[in-house]
Amino acid sequence: MAPDQSSGSEGFTGDAGSISPLSEISLEQDQRFSTHYPEVDRVLGGGMVPGSLILVGGEPGIGKSTLALQIALRSADIKTLYVSGEESLRQLKLRSDRLKDGNNEVYLLNETGLEQVIDQATSFHPDLVIVDSIQTLFSENFESAPGSVSQVRQAATRLLYFAKSRSIPVMIIGHINKEGNIAGPKVLEHIVDVVLQFEGDNHYIYRVLRSLKNRFGSTNELGIFEMRQSGLQEVTNPSQLLVNQHQDELSGVAIASTLDGIRPFLVEIQALVSPSSYGTPQRTTTGFDIRRLSMLLAVVEKRINLHLYNKDVFLNLAGGIRVTDPAIDLAIIAAVLSSNMDAPLGNKRCFAGEVGLSGEIRAVNQIEKRVLEADKLGYREIFLSGYNQIERSPGQIRLRFVNTVRDLFTQLFKS
Ligand code: TYD
Ligand code: MG
Repeated sequence: MAPDQSSGSEGFTGDAGSISPLSEISLEQDQRFSTHYPEVDRVLGGGMVPGSLILVGGEPGIGKSTLALQIALRSADIKTLYVSGEESLRQLKLRSDRLKDGNNEVYLLNETGLEQVIDQATSFHPDLVIVDSIQTLFSENFESAPGSVSQVRQAATRLLYFAKSRSIPVMIIGHINKEGNIAGPKVLEHIVDVVLQFEGDNHYIYRVLRSLKNRFGSTNELGIFEMRQSGLQEVTNPSQLLVNQHQDELSGVAIASTLDGIRPFLVEIQALVSPSSYGTPQRTTTGFDIRRLSMLLAVVEKRINLHLYNKDVFLNLAGGIRVTDPAIDLAIIAAVLSSNMDAPLGNKRCFAGEVGLSGEIRAVNQIEKRVLEADKLGYREIFLSGYNQIERSPGQIRLRFVNTVRDLFTQLFKS
C-alpha cells in the first residue's frame, strides 16, 4: 500500500455510506465517559465522546503517560486497555503503585505491531484504549521506520477506524520535541477529533492541559495540575498558586486577572527592567510571547515617552504557566513601569485589559468574572478599560478605568 492511500480515510466519522435527513439525526448517542478528573473532562468539553480519537501531545517527560495511567486507574467503571510500546509491564506496574489509585479493570498490552494491537483490542472488547505512544507503533505494510510520517499517519488512521467502528474512545499519546515538528502531533492534527497538549516547564511542578482542537467542545479551556511524588494532582483554585503571597511590596510585580475558557484566575507578572551593560538590550520572557512584549515596550516608549531601548527587560509569569489571554497586557505594562520606576504597585491592585498599538486600553471579554475573582481574593482595586461595559463594582473592589497607557501611568504614579 502506498503511504498516500491512507489520506482518503481521514475524517471518517463512522456514519459512511447512507443519506439521512438532518432533522432525524439523534444526538442521544453523545453519551460521554467521564475521566473522573473534572479538569480533564472540562478540557475535553464534558468527557470523552465514544468513537473519538483523542491525541495527547507533549514533550518527553512532561507527564503524558502518568496522566493516561491515572485516567485509566480512576475509571473503575470501565475496562481500559493500555497499550504500551515505551515501557515494560513491570515499569507500568511500578508507576501505578506510586499513583495509589487502585482499579482492577486496567489491562496492559506490551506491543508495537499495529496489526497485532488492532487485533488484540478487537477481541478484548475494552471500553477505552490508550496507546502509548503513537510513535512506537509499526505496521508491517510499510517499509519506513517506526515514528516516520507514514507510519504515524497509518497508525492513527487505523485507530480512528477502530474507534469509530467500535464506538469507544481511543486516546493516543504523541511526543513533540522543542521545535514541535517531528512526525507526530502536527501530522495527526487533521486526522484526530481532539488534540490536547500537555505542557509545562520541567523546573516547575505545574502542568497545563490545553485543548488545541476539539470537534466536540471549545478550544480555550485549560486544566491545571501539579506533578507530585504520587502523580498528578488537579489544581482547582489556580489563583492561589499563581500569585505569590509577598509580605513586602515589591517593584516590578503586577497581578493580572486572566481567563481560560470559562474560568477566571489571577496570575502574577514579574518584570525586571535594568540598564543594559552590553550593546544590544536583552528581552527575555517565560510564559509570554516575546514579540508581544516587544510590541508593548514599543507602545510604552512611544506613548509615555519612556526610554527602554537601552534597558534589558526580563518578564516572567509566576509558576511557569503560559498565558495567551490578551487581557494580561495591562498587567505586563504595569509591571514594566513599576520595575523601571522601582516603585511597588501595592499588593492589593490588579489589572485586566488589552493594549492596542496606539496605546489605547481595549475592552476584554467576561469582565464581570474577572472582577469577581479579584474581589473574591481580596483585591481592593482593579484597573480595566474605560470601554468595558461595567457600571458598578459587583463587590467591594474598586473599579479604576483607564483609556490609554498614559492614563495608566498617571493613575499609578502621578496621583
Ligand atoms: P511521564 O508520565 O513518564 O512523562 P511522558 O510520558 O510525558 O514522557 O512522567 C515523567 C516525569 O514525571 C518523570 O520525570 C517523573 C515524574 N513523576 C512524578 O514526579 N511523580 C509521579 O508520580 C510520576 C509517576 C512521575
Ligand atoms: Mg511516556
